[in-house]
Amino acid sequence: MTFVSEHAQGIELRGLTKSYGDVPAVRSIDLSIAPGETVALLGPNGAGKSTTIDMMLGLTRPDSGTVSLFGSTPSHAVDAGLVGGMLQTGSLLDYLSVRELVTMVASLYPDPLKVEDVLELTGASDFASRRTTKLSGGQTQRVRVAIALVADPELLVLDEPTAALDVEGRRDFWNSMRAVAARGKTIIFATHYLEEADAFADRIILMARGRIVADGPPTEIKAKVGGRTIRTTLPEVALADLSALPGVATAEQRGDAFTLTCVDSASSDLALRSLLSGFPAARDVEVRGAGLEEAFLNLTGDDPDDFTATSAP
Ligand SMILES: Nc1ncnc2c1ncn2[C@@H]1O[C@H](COP(=O)(O)OP(=O)(O)O)[C@@H](O)[C@H]1O
Ligand SMILES: [Mg+2]
Repeated sequence: MTFVSEHAQGIELRGLTKSYGDVPAVRSIDLSIAPGETVALLGPNGAGKSTTIDMMLGLTRPDSGTVSLFGSTPSHAVDAGLVGGMLQTGSLLDYLSVRELVTMVASLYPDPLKVEDVLELTGASDFASRRTTKLSGGQTQRVRVAIALVADPELLVLDEPTAALDVEGRRDFWNSMRAVAARGKTIIFATHYLEEADAFADRIILMARGRIVADGPPTEIKAKVGGRTIRTTLPEVALADLSALPGVATAEQRGDAFTLTCVDSASSDLALRSLLSGFPAARDVEVRGAGLEEAFLNLTGDDPDDFTATSAP
């Protein structure tokens, strides 16, 4: 097998599972990511994002299941410079300038990028001679990306890279990451901001309580997570009739209770009007903005041990 076709295998997680004592952090995750994809792992705190990422980077050993990065184990892939990781925690070496630090990291790898190019790409050139202790939050994050990038990895893994940043800092950060994505790298990042996942990822993997509860393009995930839900009680109506209403993205049924999901307020207005005119028997009608937490509950159902995704048939 050639090196190129190994790269073409991308990232494969199979049955990946990890508990901490009694706490199941990650419960049998299966996932394939193709080279060049930009993927967001989206989920609330405690969803298992960091545990998944740490297993992908070979920093945490799974209880069971496997990780394959471009056909290699995580530790081989990391040693070969195929993977750059930016963890949620960890500080920079503090007695160096930014340029010295990135240069030092570059020297650990067989075929690094030019330090000046990496500083430019991550927007760190302007403060490259500053000591790492004198940086703002946004500058620190750029340096952490520079460190992850300088080995010229095929895969960049970022755990909540903008958590410490304000709105402006977040925008600047993602602007510099666009330049990285444009080089054809595979990027996986964890976030609990839907807007961030939507703005930057090609694909969103929604995690809750250690499971993947949805996986698809941002428009599809937004429909489940960022939209509005209409609930109503309506006897003797077929689910298909409600899912066909204008403005309805997905519909679910539990007995006589229906939950209609709409991508935004305009479509929920439309859906509500057609619901009330088409089905005057509708009772207990309730319209809500579906925040992330709410959406996770919808997606994961009521049974705490059964977290399978639901959607209209
Ligand atoms: N080192 C650890 N020791 C004990 N429990 C942990 C540890 N790391 C994570 N957990 C638990 O595992 C679950 C998933 O955590 P984590 O992967 O950090 O989620 P996320 O990154 O999505 O916030 C949480 O319930 C968390 O408390
Ligand atoms: Mg985390």
